[in-house]
Amino acid sequence: MYSEIVMDHFTNPRNVGEIPDADAVGQVGNPKCGDIMKMYFKIEGNIIVDVKFKTFGCGSAIASSSMATEMVKGKTVEEALALSNYEVAKELNGLPPAKMHCSLLAEQAIKSAIFDYAKKNNLYYKELEGFD
Ligand code: FES
Ligand code: FES
Repeated sequence: MYSEIVMDHFTNPRNVGEIPDADAVGQVGNPKCGDIMKMYFKIEGNIIVDVKFKTFGCGSAIASSSMATEMVKGKTVEEALALSNYEVAKELNGLPPAKMHCSLLAEQAIKSAIFDYAKKNNLYYKELEGFD
């Protein structure tokens, strides 16, 4: 049911933890299942130099957040904003259809953190329109 990559990221998740002096913090909850994901970014000169996450949720949510943090690390803020949950699921070698919403949680946690960063630094990103 789950790919080897999903199992690997679930049993050995990358980038778990917090960044005490984070430049951006995002948190989202999944209305479908009540799971919670928190993400911390360290941003230097528009580059995401460090990412950590904490997920209270299912295995797919943990694997998705682990993979998503790996995918945005070292990227620009704009590149991270463009990351979709479909790309995260693809990198995981797929997720069962009923578990796609878990990967959406990772996409939204990234956007939530960047929303926080934008607010603190007076920046505008059209991808975040309507986000709160
Ligand atoms: Fe999230 Fe079961 S619904 S862990
Ligand atoms: Fe809720 Fe996976 S079942 S995030």
